[in-house]
Amino acid sequence: MISFTLNGRKTDVDVPPEMPLLWVLRDVLHLTGTKFGCGMALCGACTVHLEGSPLRSCLTPVSVVEGKAVTTIEGLAPKENPHPCQRAWSELSVPQCGYCQSGQIMSAAALLETKPTPTDEDIDTAMSGNICRCGTYPRIRAAIHRAAELKNGGTP
Ligand code: FES
Ligand code: FES
Repeated sequence: MISFTLNGRKTDVDVPPEMPLLWVLRDVLHLTGTKFGCGMALCGACTVHLEGSPLRSCLTPVSVVEGKAVTTIEGLAPKENPHPCQRAWSELSVPQCGYCQSGQIMSAAALLETKPTPTDEDIDTAMSGNICRCGTYPRIRAAIHRAAELKNGGTP
């Protein structure tokens, strides 16, 4: 049995300790917002937060999160009060197909916790592991600046 906190709730799962966290989230707990892309820690589609830091869940054995706090896109913010990244993403119509965007938002949200006003360079560095086949990078960068503004009390 593996026990951890998932989106603020204590969660126990009876799975092999080596099972990737991504499979546990999607197939066992049915939280399908976190996506499978490459399965090799190369695309960022599977990004979640572990204790607030971005983590590629596709290559992380679930045993790694024992006793720790995991946040997925479903738990990033309450529906009635979306995270500034979610608001900015919607405002600037960032997604195309949308497949990569949960991972993009999780990486961006983690960035804003460490750098409340990131530069373009900070953004490019933090987001370099998140691939978007639809090429939404310019809008992602603009949305992160907008999210920073919203988070820092800018014009709603
Ligand atoms: S699915 Fe995990 S990084 Fe691509
Ligand atoms: S929006 Fe389609 S892969 Fe990023």
